Amino acid sequence: MITIAVANQKGGVGKTTVTRELAACCALRGYQTLAVDCDPQGNLTSSWVEPDVYEVTLSHVLIEPDIQIGSPKPEPLPLDDAILESPVPSLDIVPSDIRLARFELQPDYLTHRLRNQLKEHGGAYDLVFIDCPPQLGKLLTAALYSADYVLVPCAADAMGLQGLSDLAYTIEQVRKNVNSELRMLGAVINLYKPLRNLSAESRGAVEAAIELVGHVFDTNLHDYSKIAEAPSQKLPAVIYAKNHRAADQLWSLTDEVLERLGLSRNKISAVKR
Ligand SMILES: Nc1ncnc2c1ncn2[C@@H]1O[C@H](COP(=O)(O)OP(=O)(O)OP(=O)(O)O)[C@@H](O)[C@H]1O
Ligand SMILES: [Mg+2]
Repeated sequence: MITIAVANQKGGVGKTTVTRELAACCALRGYQTLAVDCDPQGNLTSSWVEPDVYEVTLSHVLIEPDIQIGSPKPEPLPLDDAILESPVPSLDIVPSDIRLARFELQPDYLTHRLRNQLKEHGGAYDLVFIDCPPQLGKLLTAALYSADYVLVPCAADAMGLQGLSDLAYTIEQVRKNVNSELRMLGAVINLYKPLRNLSAESRGAVEAAIELVGHVFDTNLHDYSKIAEAPSQKLPAVIYAKNHRAADQLWSLTDEVLERLGLSRNKISAVKR
C-alpha cells in the first residue's frame, strides 16, 4: 500500500480534481485504489456519489461519538464500515461531509487514528489517495501522518503559489516529529493557460515553488471546461471526456506519477512480466 496525500492549504487549486482523476486512472490501470475524502466540504464524495448511498463517513471513523451518561465510552467505527464502491471498477472511496469539521476540535491523539485505520484495513489496496482540506489544521496533519508521499497541486500564477512555504514547513514538522518516511512526490501545475504570459513576479513564484517542492511534473493540466463538468456527471473526466485533450493530459500525469512511485504503467502487465 502506497499512500499519497494531495495537499495545499490554498483553496481551489485542484486538490480534489487531481485526487479524483489520478485515483480513477490508477484504478483503470488495474491498481486496487482507495480515495479518502479528508475534507468536510465533501467535494470528492459528491463528485462520485449522491448522499443517500452512504450513512457512514470518515467522521464516524475519526471522531469519538458523544458519551451517553451511564454507558461505556463509545468507540469510533472502523474504516472498513465507511468504504464504498465507486462507479469506477477497482476504485473504492471513503466519503465525508460537513460533520468532519468537528475533527479540528478533537483531542490530539485522534490525529493518529487515520494512519492506524489505514494500516489495519487498507492492506488490500495498492494505492490510497487522500484529498486534504484547504487548511493547515488537524485533518491535514492526520493525512500527512498517514502518507508516504505528498502531491501538491498548484494553480499556475503567483497567487496560486502563495503559502507553499507554510505547507513545506508543516511537512517538515510532520517528518521530524511523527512520520520520517514522508516524501514529497512533486507539484502539479493546474489551471494552466498556455496563452497567458507569466509576469516576472509569477515566474519568480514558480521557481521558488519548484525549489520548495523539489520536483514539478512535466504535464501541466490546462483549464478545460470538461474537467469542471465531470463531477456533475458523477464521473472522472478521463471517462466523461475520454477523447478530449483533458483526458490525454490526465493520463500523461498518471504515467509520470506511477513512474515516480516506481510502479509500472499497468498493474496487469506487471504481473504478466
Ligand atoms: N484543470 C482544470 N480545468 C477546469 N476546471 C478545473 C481544473 N481543475 C480544477 N477545476 C475546477 O476548479 C474548481 C476548484 O477545483 P478543486 O475543487 O479540485 O480544488 P481544491 O483545491 O480541491 O479546492 P478546495 O481547496 O476548496 O478543496 C472546481 O470547480 C474544479 O472543477
Ligand atoms: Mg477540494
